[in-house]
Amino acid sequence: MLDVIKKAEETHSLNKDELVLLLKEDKFDKEIFEAADRVRKKYVGDEVHLRGLIEFSNICKQNCLYCGLRRDNKNVERYRLSEEQIINFAKNARNLGYRTVVLQSGEDDYFNVDRMTRILRAIKELDLAITLSIGEKSYEEYKAYKEAGANRYLLRIETTDKGLYEKLDPNMSHENRKRCLMDLKKLGYEVGTGCLVGLPGQTLESLADDILFFKEIDADMIGVGPFIPNPDTPLKDEKGGTFELSLKVMALTRLLLPDINIPATTAMETLNKNGRLIALQSGANVVMPNVTEGEYRKLYALYPGKICVNDTPAHCFGCISGKINSIGRPISKDYGYRKKIFEKA
Ligand code: 5AD
Ligand code: SF4
Ligand code: FES
Repeated sequence: MLDVIKKAEETHSLNKDELVLLLKEDKFDKEIFEAADRVRKKYVGDEVHLRGLIEFSNICKQNCLYCGLRRDNKNVERYRLSEEQIINFAKNARNLGYRTVVLQSGEDDYFNVDRMTRILRAIKELDLAITLSIGEKSYEEYKAYKEAGANRYLLRIETTDKGLYEKLDPNMSHENRKRCLMDLKKLGYEVGTGCLVGLPGQTLESLADDILFFKEIDADMIGVGPFIPNPDTPLKDEKGGTFELSLKVMALTRLLLPDINIPATTAMETLNKNGRLIALQSGANVVMPNVTEGEYRKLYALYPGKICVNDTPAHCFGCISGKINSIGRPISKDYGYRKKIFEKA
């Protein structure tokens, strides 16, 4: 066991059996988290990158069984921000000190190429790096967004188990999701993906495959979070993922992909009140505080218990900065692109 952890720390390479072994046994979790923390420090340093998250539409044409924004959920009031609101939230984020904004929404076709590129060009004027997280699109659409100024794209694979994916994401295809990730790479985006931990029917073997998939596609960013059952979805009575296992999948991802960006996800903080700080000390180097204003935060309800729903962007910025500084970590002042200092031999 300890020799496998040592191997991961030194070579950044494990096979599936070794990953499953570490996922199964929890006696050496502390050692895994500490090794991931050392690898994080060695490759990406102590700086924490903050990304301001703008949740600009909770309207979604998809019907993922785990998600509160699924189209069949009639219990959530739907909203779309205006172009002006989105740009203003970005401006305010820039003024607070953010160097990146993440534009996230459900799969909402109202935001077509015309509207999105207009928004992207306006935000680009503000000297911000832009991450998009708006779902599956065509190559041409991704290309238009890249040309309009988007720098990064987040699209979680959710699970690499094709059967499970297609069961939980009705009418979506695993092939198309992978096609999207490949297109984004081809177009020169920094590509973020990731998975949910604790989905019903998900095995440790499949989580090991997820980590190997992240490495295989050379992802630039990986977000891992626990699945948290939403009472307004068909998966309401399922168990959901644990904090510890999510943290371990995240830490193992750091060991195998030493120089990428890894967020301490909001869902981790929902399950543990110090979740983000613990994650930052177990391999993570990014936090994505919410910069959406007003009532919208509450309505962007992927899962219950979401943090910060009644807080302002300024409050969250101060809150998280203080917490990060309290564990001796500085807030980065640059855009926080992937450092790419680890090249495979
Ligand atoms: N619990 C945790 N995360 C969820 N997501 C969607 N629904 C849930 C849930 N119930 C995540 C998905 C998606 C991201 C935007 O939110 O992984 O990619
Ligand atoms: Fe829509 Fe994304 Fe939720 Fe699926 S996970 S229902 S695509 S917002
Ligand atoms: Fe929002 Fe702490 S980050 S209240």
